[in-house]
Amino acid sequence: MKMITITIDGFSSCGKSTMAKSLARELGYIYIDSGAMYRAVTLFCLEQGLVVNGEINRSKLRKSLKDIKITFERNPQNNQVETYLNGVCVEQKIRSMAVSNLVSPVATIDFVREELVRQQQAMGTKKGIVMDGRDIGTTVFPDAELKIYVTASAEIRAQRRYSELTSKGQDADYEAILKNVQERDYIDMHREVSPLRQAEDALHLDNSELSIEQQNDWLLEQFNRVVELTS
Ligand code: DC
Repeated sequence: MKMITITIDGFSSCGKSTMAKSLARELGYIYIDSGAMYRAVTLFCLEQGLVVNGEINRSKLRKSLKDIKITFERNPQNNQVETYLNGVCVEQKIRSMAVSNLVSPVATIDFVREELVRQQQAMGTKKGIVMDGRDIGTTVFPDAELKIYVTASAEIRAQRRYSELTSKGQDADYEAILKNVQERDYIDMHREVSPLRQAEDALHLDNSELSIEQQNDWLLEQFNRVVELTS
């Protein structure tokens, strides 16, 4: 069957990765979480002392970019794809509040975006990929055959994130999460380089009221339609 490129963009905590993972599994496609790459760069900044009083030392980061190697590996125990930073699994650490609070400013840095976009495009040369993020349909793969733009209200997204953290036994404060979600939305939509926006040819999906099953069915329908159209 013909392989295509699928992009899923949208706000934080919209369930993009849940839907991208399940679609990739269903189709036997590669799944890449591009947000995890920005999070890994942010963790690197925190661990290497490149953050002073909440500010990122850009010149040091620029020099260090060549020392940041981000890879993805499937964990055979839970069958999940996990993020590695310089050979160390950082899947848990990149989801911490410390990283979440700093990742949007890191993602506004032009040279960081240039480098990560280059790596993301290299991962998709053979198609057969589902990538989620903010600028995947607009900048990384503007020629993708299937583009989805997902939205859900900030309150629903904060509640989902809260439940995700507490179900893993981590501390969580709903109000703090809501504030973080709203701040990140603002930065993601207003930054100069590749702001979050719906690509003209993207399909809009508001999943505030959809179950995971309904969402998966809708996605498969769109996939089948596009494959038929482009065959
Ligand atoms: O999807 P996420 O919440 O894990 O993304 C983390 C941050 O990275 C978020 O603030 C937006 C940014 N990001 C981005 O700018 N471009 C992408 N393609 C993916 C994420």
